[in-house]
Amino acid sequence: MSERDEQLRQEAYEQVEKHKTMVEADPYRLKYHIMPPVGLLNDPNGFIQFNGTYHMFYQWMPFKTGHGAKFWGHYTSEDLVTWTEQPIALTPSEWYEKDGCYSGSAIEHDGKLYLFYTGNVKDEDGNRESYQCMAISEDGIHFEKKGPVLELPEEYTAHFRDPKVWKEAGRFYMVIGTQNHDEQGRAVLFVSDDLHAWEHVGVVTGSHTDQLDEFGFMWECPDIFHLNGQDVLAVSPQGLEAKGMHYNNVYQSGYFVGSLNYETGHLQHGEFQELDRGFEFYAPQTTVDDQGRRILVGWMGVPDQYEEEQPTIKHKWVHTLTMPRELSLENGKVIQKPIKELETKRGAQMKYEDADIKNEVKQFGGINGLSVELQIDIKKNLSKSFDIEIRNNMRLIYNRKEGLLTLERKSFVNGRTESRHCYVEDLKQLRLFLDTSSLEVFVNGGEEVFTSRMFPDAENTTILFAANGSVTADISRWHLHV
Ligand code: FRU
Repeated sequence: MSERDEQLRQEAYEQVEKHKTMVEADPYRLKYHIMPPVGLLNDPNGFIQFNGTYHMFYQWMPFKTGHGAKFWGHYTSEDLVTWTEQPIALTPSEWYEKDGCYSGSAIEHDGKLYLFYTGNVKDEDGNRESYQCMAISEDGIHFEKKGPVLELPEEYTAHFRDPKVWKEAGRFYMVIGTQNHDEQGRAVLFVSDDLHAWEHVGVVTGSHTDQLDEFGFMWECPDIFHLNGQDVLAVSPQGLEAKGMHYNNVYQSGYFVGSLNYETGHLQHGEFQELDRGFEFYAPQTTVDDQGRRILVGWMGVPDQYEEEQPTIKHKWVHTLTMPRELSLENGKVIQKPIKELETKRGAQMKYEDADIKNEVKQFGGINGLSVELQIDIKKNLSKSFDIEIRNNMRLIYNRKEGLLTLERKSFVNGRTESRHCYVEDLKQLRLFLDTSSLEVFVNGGEEVFTSRMFPDAENTTILFAANGSVTADISRWHLHV
């Protein structure tokens, strides 16, 4: 550990100590999501199961609630639900990363844990350099930095980052998010036989390539994985213009399904589909665990979108990760299901069977809460519209005729109503995960997901059901005791 590293660690821990009381006093602290102990969190990084334990690293700025020279914070878990804070994994201590140990991934090799991340460097005039770096650990907790393993190829600007590494047929592959000199965002593939020496393979896909027209000026956080016999590229392109109910956040996260040619790097793919319909979701990363599950976690935030207005800032922290979701592919669509381990944390169930909601606003005793799971199975729907109001702050509205599901929120910036939508042909089930200041809605077994922060009156736990027409549903609530 260098002196600078030691010093940065100490300064970060001092921040944690200094603001601990203030942070913990925030009623918006979550109960079953990963948050920074102080400061700002953004992307999930290095998500892996190593020697049986799940590791989650994250982009962390300990010194303020804004972006800057990022650290890698670190949590571990045995069950993907309860997370234990670990010592800081990486600090931006060396010349090749002095302005941030930016996003990256983890892979196990010969019993060791390897991290790959982007060293971000800026000079006085704001010119950027970018190095893909490696760090190795025997125990999964202490990392030895090996420095840059891949320098910036000529074709790209220094917006070249977020390496995701995996193994396929005995070789290692790395996909990187890039921008070329014509401001076209692309995902690019590299190959290695030893994790140290990397060779450029080719462009996976991107803006102004054979399969896409204009598709963003920069692609961040790419991830390539197999899912039910196909290849999926998940990526966060920046610069897509809003189109009707699509691309309504400042930046998007979505995926392409297809087939990757490992010789050329080319992904033959279908259309870009958004991963999430809510207000806050970005830069997801996946891993595969020893049960063969493909699990995804995202950042419950979006760069440059209401970041400075987040109400938790006055308590010296900001942002959270999403809960882990298990992925599968059905008819070319990624299905996301809440990780099943969360069910083991369910407290006593409150259940209403065949509950009728008929031209009224209705409250069901016990169907409320701050950190709860709600399951609504719709058995009969003869309504024009059916809606669920959450803590006088968010509202889910299903318009049956149009097959349109809407999530409304009272903006925490100006109190106005803002909304996000998607089509759901036949609404059968909603699973809502509320956690103090977040909401994750899984529609029809994970066909669609809405992920959002919410900042209602901290005491308000009310949930109201309303129908214009009549709806019959089974309604359950579990407190989540994590
Ligand atoms: C995405 C991102 C990454 C980068 C990191 C920096 O949110 O901009 O591209 O590596 O955050 O914190």
